[in-house]
Amino acid sequence: MRIVTLAEPDDFDGWRDAARCLLAESVPPDEVIWQVGDFGGDLFAAEAEPQGPAIASGFSVSRAFLDLARSVVPHLDPERFALLYDLLTRMRVQPKLIEDRANSLVRRLDHLAAQVRRDIHKMRAFLRFREMPNRDGGGDGTRFIAWFEPEHHIVRANAAFFVNRFASMRWSILTPDLSIHWDGATLSEGPGAQKGDAPDGDPVEDVWKTYYASIFNPARVKIGAMLKEMPKKYWKNMPETALVPGLIAAAQARESGMIETARASVGGNIQVAWKALRDEAAGCTRCPLYRDATQTVFGEGPVDAALMFVGEQPGDQEDLAGKPFVGPAGQMFDRALTEAGVDRASVYVTNAVKHFKFEQRGKRRVHSKPGAGEIEACRWWIDQERALVKPRVTVALGATAARSLFGKVMTIGRERGRALELPDQGGEAWITVHPSYLLRLPDEAAKEEEFARFVEDLKMAGERAS
Ligand code: URA
Repeated sequence: MRIVTLAEPDDFDGWRDAARCLLAESVPPDEVIWQVGDFGGDLFAAEAEPQGPAIASGFSVSRAFLDLARSVVPHLDPERFALLYDLLTRMRVQPKLIEDRANSLVRRLDHLAAQVRRDIHKMRAFLRFREMPNRDGGGDGTRFIAWFEPEHHIVRANAAFFVNRFASMRWSILTPDLSIHWDGATLSEGPGAQKGDAPDGDPVEDVWKTYYASIFNPARVKIGAMLKEMPKKYWKNMPETALVPGLIAAAQARESGMIETARASVGGNIQVAWKALRDEAAGCTRCPLYRDATQTVFGEGPVDAALMFVGEQPGDQEDLAGKPFVGPAGQMFDRALTEAGVDRASVYVTNAVKHFKFEQRGKRRVHSKPGAGEIEACRWWIDQERALVKPRVTVALGATAARSLFGKVMTIGRERGRALELPDQGGEAWITVHPSYLLRLPDEAAKEEEFARFVEDLKMAGERAS
């Protein structure tokens, strides 16, 4: 039996080095015990840790595996290191095993990774700094302290995010297992703390308020949904819950001015607001689809695009790649855009629903249409994308997109080929078919005819946007 003792519960490098050595010696997974911390050294002295250089006997590990391992390692599950090593050894004979979503080990690891990602997102969204009273009175000694209780060992994984976002502040983040401190130049670590070590009182950062106001969409405010998104245990630490009534009160007056508010409140930098929105969406749990999907597939394209395309939901390939319209329907869409003379790089492409909904049939993940509840839950994101990008023309590709944009069922046959007004004064909209409809047509002649019609629709939208 081999005992591997890792220095920290989130010691990815330690796990990777040990796994490489074990693999080089072909040590089977059931002959390895993984543990964390100082266990007194001699306890298992006869079965020392593997030593030596990291050799993997010609077996190179895919980027996807390393990404998965990096996400899984911070999980609380005591079996995480063993599960990862198990998958690694199996991938030596089955290199593509990680792509097999029907495999129970892959699914379990994906699930752990998703839980860690969600915890990382929650820390980013719900951590609130308070100002530390400056007892000496002098100097620019202001320090900000936040208390947070993560579910997994994610503090180190999140440190760079807080350093980037609050680079010019001096701050500490205290958690039960670890504290991290930023002095404006250096990040350091300290032991865990207790809630009482952080100051009480009102959270201070206007930064968060500004950010929150920038993504707040008054046209679609749903208090119940909003409060559901902010778990109760975080409320008391959050300044923006106090902001909400004011935002709602101003909503009617501001609906058409949403984008100006967003532009002003993020210092005119829409790109920053868009990135923040995309990061928020990465941890979305607004409907159950996040549980089985690999990741949120957010929109992409220039944030000042005059033309926006809205599809239905990511497909299998989009779910794996994290990008919209890259699979078969995406290729059909690209071909039609080219024929229509519209440069894909100049348009913003997104979906009404941001997680892949599917049914597992054996090894295949078969597309399943999103329901009204899922479309409604995901409008939270598309409304905010639209408020930021503010396209002159928006094209709904298929019925799901049309339903999302108009908030009701739209009949493509009746509405196609004419300019429509979006209900929230969001500009002009066009409705056309979804590219996968063209893929499904069995008859070649009909396919050609329908493709030409689709190209005409895209051309018209392109002209109206320019
Ligand atoms: N179908 C969609 O509606 N969107 C995608 O991103 C891919 C396929």
